[in-house]
Amino acid sequence: MTYIKQFYVNDLKEGMEFVDFFMAKGPALKVGANKKVYFDITLADKTGSVSGKKWDVSPDESGILETIAEGDLVKIRANVVSYKDIKQLRITRIRNATAEDELSVKDYIKAAPESPESMYEYLWNTTESMKDEELKRLCQLVLDSNKEKLHYYPAAAKNHHAEFAGLLYHLKRMVMHGIALCDIYTFLNKDLLIAGVLLHDMEKLTEIEANRMGISTGYSFEGNMLGHLVQGVKRVDRWAEVIGIGHEKSIMLQHMMISHHYEPEFGSPKKPLFPEAEALHYLDMMDAKMYDFEEAISGTEPGQFSDRVWTLDNRRIYKSTERE
Ligand SMILES: [Fe+2]
Ligand SMILES: [Fe+2]
Repeated sequence: MTYIKQFYVNDLKEGMEFVDFFMAKGPALKVGANKKVYFDITLADKTGSVSGKKWDVSPDESGILETIAEGDLVKIRANVVSYKDIKQLRITRIRNATAEDELSVKDYIKAAPESPESMYEYLWNTTESMKDEELKRLCQLVLDSNKEKLHYYPAAAKNHHAEFAGLLYHLKRMVMHGIALCDIYTFLNKDLLIAGVLLHDMEKLTEIEANRMGISTGYSFEGNMLGHLVQGVKRVDRWAEVIGIGHEKSIMLQHMMISHHYEPEFGSPKKPLFPEAEALHYLDMMDAKMYDFEEAISGTEPGQFSDRVWTLDNRRIYKSTERE
């Protein structure tokens, strides 16, 4: 009989003690300030993830803990505590799951709320309505050549949209928002903005390493050395040449790749120098922030503040009493 999971990350409250299964992320043995070995791990399921610690690991125990790998399903016994206003698990027992536990993998994988097929189709149909033939060919070439990976890739190793088909979800919502934006700011070049959106994070597919469950296992060599902005510039330069896109348009697209993070400390050597590039940055920010807000309130009781959210400048987000 398939195991029925009872304790989801979003339902865990300070003071609870429980036993249940979770997916292991970033398991590592570390040495604390007191020189004692502890086990550091993030425990995840389809609702979210939470940091866990097992203190005072003995040499015998460390051998067993070393066998726990990224993406393994583990059974833990733990207490929920609060550390600097962030939920944390004090683990007293942990072991790897076995086939006899009969777990359903779906309980442990966070996934975008729409099917990859329907999101891909939406993006493809959007390119069908593009009037600029060069940009249309470029977008269709990029979508088509990345089709397989787009169906499961996350948009990040850790932060916003780090979930199954998260990159596709990020792109789809940005395209929808971009189209709406062009209805308001009618001077914007819609095809250029849509192309910028579709291309801006495409090299996350080579920057991040991920398995078919959409779980990132870290950064690739190119990802570490260059990052998706520089990888994106290189790729767009080559694609534009293959398709025969004019010099000005190619350079403008490449500029959208390198400027979309806006600030040098976030990897952009240039700030946006034309309206569509500026709009791309805000579409990107808006989608990332809304994702983080939605996540923060989903794990919070109505009338309460969330844990501190690092990606939202350590703010604690309030959930209205009128929300479910
Ligand atoms: Fe990006
Ligand atoms: Fe993005």
